Amino acid sequence: MKKRIVLAFGTRPEAIKMAPVYLALARSGALEPVILLTGQHRTQLEQALSIFGVPHERNLDVMTERQTLPELAARILPQAAAAFRGLKADYVLVHGDTLTTFVSAWAAFLERIPVGHVEAGLRSGSMSEPFPEEANRVLTDALCDTFFAPTEGARANLLKSGAAPARVFVTGQTAVDAILFASKKGVLPDDVPERGPVATVTLHRRENWPVLNELARRLAGVARARAEWTFVFPVHLNPVVREAVVPPLSGVGNVKLVEPLEYGCMAALLARSRLILTDSGGLQEEGASLGVPVAVVRNVTERPEGVEAGIVTLLGNEPERAMTEFAALMDDEPRLDRMASVKNPYGDGRASERIAAALERRLA
Ligand code: UD1
Ligand code: UDP
Repeated sequence: MKKRIVLAFGTRPEAIKMAPVYLALARSGALEPVILLTGQHRTQLEQALSIFGVPHERNLDVMTERQTLPELAARILPQAAAAFRGLKADYVLVHGDTLTTFVSAWAAFLERIPVGHVEAGLRSGSMSEPFPEEANRVLTDALCDTFFAPTEGARANLLKSGAAPARVFVTGQTAVDAILFASKKGVLPDDVPERGPVATVTLHRRENWPVLNELARRLAGVARARAEWTFVFPVHLNPVVREAVVPPLSGVGNVKLVEPLEYGCMAALLARSRLILTDSGGLQEEGASLGVPVAVVRNVTERPEGVEAGIVTLLGNEPERAMTEFAALMDDEPRLDRMASVKNPYGDGRASERIAAALERRLA
């Protein structure tokens, strides 16, 4: 009989990086994948899944407006545990570093169902950056049975924290599988010009909230001084983020503030971009996969491979310094060309296949 694998996820980035895993598991003769959505996100989750056409079995639909982290965790834990029981899960797979990731892993652990972690082993080394994602990763890895590490560096982190070597598989990043698929299929949003340099911008991280308004004000200045560039900023639906970034940027002619994009559109936009300005995790991997330089508004990254390879640069999150460095990068064509020509350190587009093969062996 096939082993039933429940993939539990709930936010945009998890959906994008787990959809290819679902599709790879569905091709296996030995495994039966089933998707359980926590619904930590609503619109952004639907927009992430639509291009992949993957079915979900249940949606716990936990999201509320301006949800707090403790309340969210308290809603997910008992419902996820009951769903795993109800779905008769033989095994649970979680992804990444959100509250859904950790709480779903904990729920499975309490139900005595073994858990595998996709994108295991990433570490920034600081519990406050990114917050609370670094804690979510560490806590999730403490509960897991099997670890799918995207890189050798992630594997080394897991071994350092005591994971058994036989339970750690280096697979590559499933974000690479996702972006290579979506950038071929996706269609550019209407208002992106055909000519001229485009910068895609996303900012939403919790630890950046105190400086978000100031970052946006300085970005407005950078944009006004560079009329030949178009900035496309799909603004996260979190009202805290909207309140900080929309007022300073809304009157700037060459900044297009747009609603969150369906993943195919986003992939096409990224592929069209000359540069990405972001504090996201996934965009670091996607830029590296598409040969688009990424400037990251963070002090540390749990994805150091892109920085070491040269396609990602860390700006820090002190607004004046970060935006001065960003402006200098925009004006430095030779540097942008050098960054864009780096080999992708995150994978080759076959991570999901490797995860399916490793899981088949583990459960044989
Ligand atoms: C969450 C994750 C973060 C991840 C990010 C990806 C945690 C603690 N945080 O942060 O790691 O990088 O998702 O985007 O798990 N909202 C909507 N519709 C949506 C999504 C969000 O309206 O589709 C609004 C709601 O008001 C919600 C708020 O955004 O309460 C915050 O959502 P939440 O998932 O708690 O935090 P994020 O900042 O999205
Ligand atoms: N993304 C998207 N539409 C958008 C903005 C982002 O599809 O409007 C995708 C992006 O390409 C990446 C993922 O969402 O794959 C990143 O998610 P997010 O920034 O929400 O989370 P993080 O990576 O910071 O955890």
